[in-house]
Amino acid sequence: MNESSFHVVIDAVRDVASGIREFTFRRADGQPFPLYSAGSHVVVSVPAGERPRRNPYSLLGDPNERMSWRIAVRRQEPSRGGSAWLHEQARVGDRLDITAPMNLFPLISTARSHLLVAGGIGVTPILSQARELARRGADFEVHYAWRSPAHAAYVAELEALAPGKVHHYDESQGVRIDFKTLFAGRRLGTHFYICGPTPMVSAAMEGGAAMGWPATNLHSERFASAEPGEPFDVLLARSGQRITVPADLSLLEALEQCGAPVNALCRGGACGQCETPVLSADGELLHHDVYLSDADKQAGKLVMPCVSRFKGACLTLDL
Ligand SMILES: Cc1cc2nc3c(=O)[nH]c(=O)nc-3n(C[C@H](O)[C@H](O)[C@H](O)COP(=O)(O)OP(=O)(O)OC[C@H]3O[C@@H](n4cnc5c(N)ncnc54)[C@H](O)[C@@H]3O)c2cc1C
Ligand code: FES
Repeated sequence: MNESSFHVVIDAVRDVASGIREFTFRRADGQPFPLYSAGSHVVVSVPAGERPRRNPYSLLGDPNERMSWRIAVRRQEPSRGGSAWLHEQARVGDRLDITAPMNLFPLISTARSHLLVAGGIGVTPILSQARELARRGADFEVHYAWRSPAHAAYVAELEALAPGKVHHYDESQGVRIDFKTLFAGRRLGTHFYICGPTPMVSAAMEGGAAMGWPATNLHSERFASAEPGEPFDVLLARSGQRITVPADLSLLEALEQCGAPVNALCRGGACGQCETPVLSADGELLHHDVYLSDADKQAGKLVMPCVSRFKGACLTLDL
């Protein structure tokens, strides 16, 4: 553990919707947590299998609450272990390591109005943002879409903190968010925030841009993660190390295991921290991130190891 991480104890576990479980943490040393900003996530080291899995989870509670932090985890199917362990093995009293919070999805303090959209488990950062906006007395609305009422977490909590401002969309009843209507006629200075499944986020961002919203007013977070794939070989040019990335590890996880110097924040292809120069690629880079531009992806000189993979004989990195 270092200054930017905490040993925590699981204080409470409860199911908040079908397949979604909430965990409350307190610090193992009894000290208060630091303050964080709404929209932040922590990386939880989950002791699933031989190697801990390091998964980001959004903090959904009150950013000013110092004695406990809350996350909610959707059970992923299939899972390499992270969400499965948290659902099936984690118990009250268990100890875990988590990082300090980082925020890739902050509220814009100069916004005149805020339009928050959540899809499914994407409600977690939206809940902390709504709580913060309610506290500030800001002008905001929440639009929350779910697969069915059984999958809808935190509806009552959201409504209690933002009475009359929460709009529901139940897909099982054929009700979906019409982004064209949502974006239309908003006052100047409105900022839009969305967290949800990738197709929903992409549709919203494209819809906003098509309706003339400036890119600086459109904000999104995707809960992307490293998909398993075919094994591949990597040469680290500076250290001379040659490693094989197995099917069930990401390139980032394999680099971390051999002690290569790579930074990571989101571990989901969005923040840019893990950007690594490619010296040569005898094959095809499989870019799965949303950080690099299409031109960068085409050029093949950079890779984001947290989510991207490689198909071919050998990938040589400037590490
Ligand atoms: C900034 C950020 C915040 C996040 N916040 C939250 C949050 O608040 N709540 C939440 O629930 N999640 C959140 N996530 C997602 C979370 O970090 C994990 O990605 C998620 O819990 C799945 O973890 P896992 O270890 O179970 O899945 P993994 O095993 O890592 O699976 C990753 C993907 O690969 C697929 N997969 C796994 N094994 C196989 C296989 N054998 N064959 C084919 N496909 C496979 C999975 O279905 C999944 O799509 C967040 C992600 C980011 C980037
Ligand atoms: S760690 Fe954020 S893009 Fe890779």
